[in-house]
Amino acid sequence: AGVLTGCAVVPELLDFDQGNASPDAEAYTRTVAEQAGILVAENAMKWSSLRPTASTYNFTPADKLFAFAAAYQQQVRGHNLCWHEQLPAWFSSVATKDNAASLLTQHIQTVAGRYAGRVHSWDVVNEAVYLQDSRPDGLRNSPWLQLIGPSYIELAFTAAAKADPHAKLTYNDYDIELDTPEQTAKRGQVLLLVRRLVARGIPIQAIGIQSHLQATGPKPGSGLLSLIREVAKLGLEVYITEMDVNTHQLEGGSDVQDAAVAEVYKSYLGMVLAEPNVKAFLTWGITDAHTWLNQIRQPWTIRPDGSRQRPLPFDDEYRPTPAFFAIRSAIDTA
Ligand code: G3I
Repeated sequence: AGVLTGCAVVPELLDFDQGNASPDAEAYTRTVAEQAGILVAENAMKWSSLRPTASTYNFTPADKLFAFAAAYQQQVRGHNLCWHEQLPAWFSSVATKDNAASLLTQHIQTVAGRYAGRVHSWDVVNEAVYLQDSRPDGLRNSPWLQLIGPSYIELAFTAAAKADPHAKLTYNDYDIELDTPEQTAKRGQVLLLVRRLVARGIPIQAIGIQSHLQATGPKPGSGLLSLIREVAKLGLEVYITEMDVNTHQLEGGSDVQDAAVAEVYKSYLGMVLAEPNVKAFLTWGITDAHTWLNQIRQPWTIRPDGSRQRPLPFDDEYRPTPAFFAIRSAIDTA
């Protein structure tokens, strides 16, 4: 029993040779080693990281992540095999309608094949639903869709199953947590997509609910629970794959921020971890010192007073935050 718990990591910061590590890398390494049962690369296994040129692969950071996980008996999620973002610069000049299907399947064979048997679950297709593109099927007008057509999704899952029959093959998406009209509509299209795949016998075993949540505004509720239960009826597992809590609209100091963030973790995990098919929970990072919410400076990340975000269970100094204790008690009582 118990939910598998972990976080996204930056392999470059994981140092086996503690003697040579910077104080930050040393604290980072110790925290990840002690706290996580499952790891996922925040960026290192995306196309742009793995594919410096069309004919070469850079597996060094990903290999390091797998070696670290093996040393500490941690599982690994793969993120991701097919996404509209983070395609390498060469992609647009190399990929054509004629070769795109084989580019995609060869990438999946090479990457999922390399780590076969060592991956808990693969985000095979990431963020393929995007209602703003106004297609009747809800699919995003991504490079993959433009080059291959909607069948790119089936192609990716089928190739992944062949390359790694042991990994749970996952469809991963965001903005499907709330009961707002937009997110309710998107969640509906995600469920329809998953149902279409299952009905056609495409190998898919799980969905990933990213869970990049906000401290302010509407909270996740019954719509999300019904998605989790509907996919359970299809025999699929659910993973909370990328949780963090954005406070860009919350006024107040770090105590106010910490209390609000912890409350979101508490209520969210209390709700989703009670569902028996929710099998894994990962935060998108482990420390506020290394979170995309402090890295990407956009209107939707910048706090009212300009202070740093505190979205994760450990703060900038690697001290556990109220979110840490909220997560721990939610896991203990699940
Ligand atoms: O590594 C380069 C560095 O060499 C370069 O100098 C620098 C200049 O911009 O960029 C660095 O790359 C950045 C990379 O993060 C590593 O720091 C990219 O610009 C930046 O776009 C990239 O952002 C990542 C983003 O995905 C896009 O891939 C975030 O770290 C990462 O947290 C975020 O993660 C996504 C999930 O994959 C999917 N779900 C949403 C989630 C949050 O956006």
